[in-house]
Amino acid sequence: MFSGDIDRAAFVVYFLGAIVPLTGLAVVVDRYVLPTLDNRNAEIGLIAGVLCVGALTLGAFLALRQVMSATIARMDRDKERLSGLLEWSKQLGATPHVSEVLEAATVSAAEIEDAQAAWIFLKGDQDEAPALSGSAGEDADHLYTRNAGAVDEIVTLSVESGRPAMRETSDGEMAIAVVPLPKESGLRGAIAAMKTGDAHFDPRELEALETLSGIASVALQAADLRDAQRNFFSHVTDMLVTALDSHLGFHRGHGQRVAQYANRLGRKLELDDATLERIHFASLLHDIGMLKLDRNQQMTRATCDQHCVLGSRMISRVRLWRDLAPIIYHHHEWFDGNGYPDGLIGETIPLESRVIALCDAVDSMTSDDSYRTPLALEAALEELAQCSGTQFDPDLVEAFLDLARDGLIEIGPPPMA
Ligand SMILES: [Fe+2]
Repeated sequence: MFSGDIDRAAFVVYFLGAIVPLTGLAVVVDRYVLPTLDNRNAEIGLIAGVLCVGALTLGAFLALRQVMSATIARMDRDKERLSGLLEWSKQLGATPHVSEVLEAATVSAAEIEDAQAAWIFLKGDQDEAPALSGSAGEDADHLYTRNAGAVDEIVTLSVESGRPAMRETSDGEMAIAVVPLPKESGLRGAIAAMKTGDAHFDPRELEALETLSGIASVALQAADLRDAQRNFFSHVTDMLVTALDSHLGFHRGHGQRVAQYANRLGRKLELDDATLERIHFASLLHDIGMLKLDRNQQMTRATCDQHCVLGSRMISRVRLWRDLAPIIYHHHEWFDGNGYPDGLIGETIPLESRVIALCDAVDSMTSDDSYRTPLALEAALEELAQCSGTQFDPDLVEAFLDLARDGLIEIGPPPMA
């Protein structure tokens, strides 16, 4: 530890800078000065002088060492707090949901402040006062219930004034520190920490809490934006899928059923979350290009070619959906190269497209649409097995048949919109 190294260095400096010269002085006095003195009082005075110098040096060293130890201990605590803040800032930055950021911010506040409880309060436009939005610490709920009036009062004061606030009880049994979220973040709220039993917050702890409040507000804004994005995409996708269903007039719920099969198949294949998310949205939107085609037009190979290209072009214009475009473009490729639009072969076809192609076919065979009699699941699975290696990726067919054997594939009425 840093403090241990400094302590050892101080002893070495004391030994070389004080003990060695003083010992040398004592030897010189003893050998060369004392024999020349014939006055007993002068001898005693000289010895006392040397001893006094030694005692003063030792006293000064001990006092200096104590100051150094206190300073180093404070530096160690600051370093620990800074490392904690850096660690938490990384975690908060990577936290995707607002609720998770609120939880992480209070846990970090309690840890960094070494406090028994920490809370975060947020004030919406319609709220009269900041409302408790997250807490951490074993006794957080109990402490808040017992001190709700005092805590709410100091939090409101801090949020309204935009300044940190601290309060301690006169018996030192309880201390609370509150820092507001920075006004520039556009959020109104505060982080509070409470200590009990010989409780005290020093100014450095308050500074650390202010830094944490800044980090938490940035993370909250980012998570809120991500939540808004997710909400937007999920609802816009719903609207597009509904529009597609009503445009085609048949095949209602096709996109949702394909997404359901594809999600199960993706999980069976243990695909990562990002791939599963791409598969989900691309399944829902795979036939979106049909919106650009005349619904009365007969579905020929040329028309089908077009819906892949048109759909991929439509989706590629949405920046956050751009990675879905190639998946949609290739969802009618065959594993043996006899598909369209590009006639890609095997694993050159994106995995997500191969998954959707298989699930699309299963639903087309089994759903009650207007142009063919639906097959029972067993018959559809048989057809799937026959087309393994030609139309479909054999590994995916295998995994899908496993799912069906485990009873995880159900065909039925389209899900409700
Ligand atoms: Fe299609």
